[in-house]
Amino acid sequence: MSPNTITLPAAADFHLHLRQDEMMRMVTPMVSKGGVSLAYIMPNLQPPISNTEQALTYKKELEQLAPNVTFYMTLYLSPELTVDEIRKAAKAGVAGVKSYPRGVTTNSDGGIENYEIYYPIFKAMEEEKMVLNLHGEIPSDPESDICVMNAEERFLPQLEKLHKAFPNLKIVLEHATSKAAVDMVKSLGDTVGCTITVHHLKLIVDDWAGQAHHFCKPVAKYPHDRQALQEVVTSGHPRFFLGTDSAPHPSHTKETAHAHAGVFTTPLVFPYLANIFETLGCLDKLENFACHFGKKFYGLSQKPEFENATVTLEKTETDVVPNQFHISEDGTPSSYGAVVPFWAGKPLGWKITK
Ligand code: NCD
Ligand code: DOR
Ligand code: ZN
Ligand code: ZN
Repeated sequence: MSPNTITLPAAADFHLHLRQDEMMRMVTPMVSKGGVSLAYIMPNLQPPISNTEQALTYKKELEQLAPNVTFYMTLYLSPELTVDEIRKAAKAGVAGVKSYPRGVTTNSDGGIENYEIYYPIFKAMEEEKMVLNLHGEIPSDPESDICVMNAEERFLPQLEKLHKAFPNLKIVLEHATSKAAVDMVKSLGDTVGCTITVHHLKLIVDDWAGQAHHFCKPVAKYPHDRQALQEVVTSGHPRFFLGTDSAPHPSHTKETAHAHAGVFTTPLVFPYLANIFETLGCLDKLENFACHFGKKFYGLSQKPEFENATVTLEKTETDVVPNQFHISEDGTPSSYGAVVPFWAGKPLGWKITK
């Protein structure tokens, strides 16, 4: 039988989109509400975060909105990035570089195609102990039978190649969605980690086909893929850890002919996870997955004053996921609209009490 109350250290989210402007001001204060006190921030803004100065400016904005969260920043890999900038970024505490394949996901038009031109950058990152965060999909190509269902699997040889070329470079395969990805990461060395989102532990292709609020990149795949993700977290494998990829979009940009990709989980990260891990019968694996494995892989920690921050979850019969969150500073509806969270209207069975 499950307990009625669980107290855990605050979580670390190693893959988070906090956006900019009004959206940023709405979402960022919710990080700690979801039970997260360390957040690793994605750089796909408009324009992308492509140098140290931009990263530090963005970090300051986020810290003002959420003083109780420790933020780690990333740069967007593009041809503008230089070896000198990598050295400078590392000195300034920028933790990683995110690579997006061109055109695959939100604001990835400036992404990359050929990894070899970046080898000098990766070499410098390896020396500076920066982490390479890979969005592991190749662009769709009907001629080669490549589409969203196999775009991740077809990327995996590239991951293996990069790991062999830079064995001491820490590489994270972000938001894994396939059994093939889980197997590949397991087969590689200790410098290769993998983030798993909240939503990919629950969704398969049937759940997003026609359901815009479940549509994200990489897309959720077959039942056996979801099962592989569930099994690897249930097994407590230390190189698989939480990265929510929470990616808010205004609801009018999802409920439309061409839906934007992204699932929003930030305000309720820990209640979602408690629900999922309880259903999987592995609540005892939640703490390592959400709180420890990621920090250990990265060698990163919370600010000392938050090191002992805890989150208490309690069973609830009545609380349900809100239908939407309004995008404005004072919580009133704005012209910009609202964001619909994952599992809107659903009872999770768990709430955060402090
Ligand atoms: C988002 C938005 O609409 O504001 N952009 C988008 O969907 N292309 C926010 C963002 O991606 O920064
Ligand atoms: O679904 C997604 N949305 N996947 C990504 O990789 C990017 C994200 C976003 O920024 O919206
Ligand atoms: Zn990504
Ligand atoms: Zn992402």
